[in-house]
Amino acid sequence: MYFPSTPISYAVEITYNCNHSCPGCANVLGQHRQAELQNWRELFDCIAPPDNRRKYAELLRITGGEPTLHPEFGQIIRYIDTFGIPHATFTNGRWNDPDTLIELFQGCQNFVGLLVSLHGSTAETHQAFTHDALEGFEIICDNIRLAAEARLEVFTNTVLTRDNCGQLDDIIVLSQRLGAEYAVFNRYLGKPHPIEPDEQQLRQTIRRIEALQREGIHCRIGDCIPPCFEKNSSVGSNGGIEHCAISPSGMVRPENLTSYTFGNLFEQPIEAIWQSERAQWYRQQLPEKCLECVELPRCRGGCRSVTVEYELAGDPLMQEPIYTAEPEILELDPTWKPVPFFNIRPEPFGYLLARYNWSVPVAHEAKALVEAINGQTTLAQLHQQFGDDALDFIGQLYREGCVGFEE
Ligand SMILES: C[S@@+](CC[C@H](N)C(=O)[O-])C[C@H]1O[C@@H](n2cnc3c(N)ncnc32)[C@H](O)[C@@H]1O
Ligand code: SF4
Ligand code: SF4
Repeated sequence: MYFPSTPISYAVEITYNCNHSCPGCANVLGQHRQAELQNWRELFDCIAPPDNRRKYAELLRITGGEPTLHPEFGQIIRYIDTFGIPHATFTNGRWNDPDTLIELFQGCQNFVGLLVSLHGSTAETHQAFTHDALEGFEIICDNIRLAAEARLEVFTNTVLTRDNCGQLDDIIVLSQRLGAEYAVFNRYLGKPHPIEPDEQQLRQTIRRIEALQREGIHCRIGDCIPPCFEKNSSVGSNGGIEHCAISPSGMVRPENLTSYTFGNLFEQPIEAIWQSERAQWYRQQLPEKCLECVELPRCRGGCRSVTVEYELAGDPLMQEPIYTAEPEILELDPTWKPVPFFNIRPEPFGYLLARYNWSVPVAHEAKALVEAINGQTTLAQLHQQFGDDALDFIGQLYREGCVGFEE
């Protein structure tokens, strides 16, 4: 497996302050509520150096805690917006001043979306996750609606729980009614908690999300669900590979789900942190059985951060390896022209085709083909020039969201 020499996706936790007290909060450091990023210009200049802002990051995620509670939230967003890097904010939607917040994002050039947590279609199920006051649900719904009406890209994010799995269709209807682009669903990740759905519930819910998605409904699975648990369209975990979480004190971790730290951005350059022994050790934490599995390149062995944090043998959803690849038939018109959705980054092993928080490593020899995916060349021409393997490769890129097609 090849790894990018630096992360391309940075989740910067600007504060651990929060107006919710979700008992199942994914952020293992979130209990340090006083922690707040102070020297944020310095931190963002390490991620996006002033002489080449786009050197490392393809995506910045502003998160927390509840990031909108940072006293300089507006200044931070305006600052990072000048970098030319797409940025998104993860929020619980319980905003102190919705109008100012919406105006802030309306004034941005590189803002790509708000991911607002909505953990049910009713106040009761939402509250079961957040432990907020019951009226919080209506306030969040109003804020989502306001943001969507102001033409901001809003996505709702639901952590699947015992209480809300049965509300799946209603959550999607609500999300759409409020004007969200997509209803995103994440499995619960963290230490075992009574709020988690049982396996049967989770399986059924995954099947339903996949079926609705095939019908063209705007819903999808967010974080990695190993296909050995249930066949699904999610991609593997990118923590420690393309993605990192950064705490208010500059600690670089593979994800917010673990306190396992690779290094500190205020003390070391990101290249050294990402190639450190601690980072390499983390990436090696792969159940042996996964090495036999045909789905490994895409699944990447499930959620490593939970495995490492709770010293588990593997992803809690992991079952038996998959030994035979199911042929996947993709019907493509030879006149279609593949359009690249990726940026090409040179790496010692070849190139990284990077899209936001996901990447596909390719060898030096693939350069001619990669450059020919330009929105001008038809599939027939690519086939003629590069053979059958080129079509398989383009199919893989399509499956991983790295190319589209122009008719
Ligand atoms: C830690 S929160 C921080 C942002 C904000 N406070 C919020 O809740 O949306 C980041 C994301 O993690 C999701 N999340 C929280 N707890 C989770 C868990 N146990 N498993 C999976 N995702 C979780 C939230 O829904 C949110 O989209
Ligand atoms: S709102 Fe977000 S950060 Fe706050 S406790 Fe809940 S999941 Fe954690
Ligand atoms: S066996 Fe491992 S690599 Fe294969 S699907 Fe399961 S978790 Fe993923």
